[in-house]
Amino acid sequence: MDNLANASMDSMRQVNEITGKQMPTFSMDMLDKDALRDLFKKHRILCVMHFAGLKTLEESCNKPLLYYKTNIGGTISLLEVMKEFGVYNMIFSSSAAVYGSPSYLPIDEKHTVGGCINPYGKTKYFIEEILKDNCTAEKQWNVVLLRYFNPVGAHVTGKLGEDPQGVPNNLMPYVSHVAVGRLKELTVYGDNYDTPDETEVRDYIHVVDLAQGHVAALKYLEKDCGCKVFNLGTGKGFSVIDMAKAYESASGKRVPYQIAGSREGDIASCYADASLAEKELGWALKLDLAKMCEDLWRWQSNNPTGFRQDS
Ligand code: UD1
Repeated sequence: MDNLANASMDSMRQVNEITGKQMPTFSMDMLDKDALRDLFKKHRILCVMHFAGLKTLEESCNKPLLYYKTNIGGTISLLEVMKEFGVYNMIFSSSAAVYGSPSYLPIDEKHTVGGCINPYGKTKYFIEEILKDNCTAEKQWNVVLLRYFNPVGAHVTGKLGEDPQGVPNNLMPYVSHVAVGRLKELTVYGDNYDTPDETEVRDYIHVVDLAQGHVAALKYLEKDCGCKVFNLGTGKGFSVIDMAKAYESASGKRVPYQIAGSREGDIASCYADASLAEKELGWALKLDLAKMCEDLWRWQSNNPTGFRQDS
């Protein structure tokens, strides 16, 4: 289910085509409890993978109530309905944002959480706390919190990829729009950081590796694990300039850039220690930076205007 605030049902049609299966899909809002109840009544649900939420840092600073209502209110409404129907298994899309500005690198799961810089990060942190408290209070719950680092890339077929509405906020969709000619140049936010080339460093993970992490987490829930948390990243940091250059190599297109001031609330470096997920979930990273860029470019060049062929 998706309220399609930043998504298209076309992506689900592509999933069906790629997998050869018909996935039942519903256009509805998580805050609509009656619609949720209806869904749980009609389908035998064993586990919920909860990805739903707003995720733009800047917007979250301007519209905090919208973020708290959608992300936290939506989660509570979902948990209440799950409980009504005796569904106690959840995988939650959390974020590296819960760590705030890291006090050491690479960041492992023992790093303190909660010093979040923006309301978006706070919603992820508060939801984690709600899920933990719920697991402590009611032992039948099993929840895996997956803290995503920076997902990029697309499905290898080039049929399924990210299609942000309006001007992209995240780095790689923006870079990709520049390469395909939809945007003129990249704006690099800051070149005065304590990093090798002085631009910000992040841990970029192929979206298919991230998806495989969810499959591993689904199997892990069968162990009656209670509440567990795992980083999903690669353990490697790349700078903004590294990413633009890697995309130029993959696409054969130029990605011109200009340097601007830092984005409010941004941090210099953020990358994961992802060894716990490898050890406990039995999850292994398979796809490197070149592959992330190659797959993203296949999707972008096949679909220059995303799923909307007319824009
Ligand atoms: C942040 C959060 C992440 C969250 C994501 C949701 C942190 C540490 N990370 O990721 O948890 O899931 O937002 O959107 O809080 N950049 C440019 N020019 C651009 C766009 C981005 O230079 O036009 C730079 C940013 O300054 C940053 C990097 O590229 O250094 C990646 O930015 P972005 O893709 O927006 O992700 P984060 O801000 O790292």
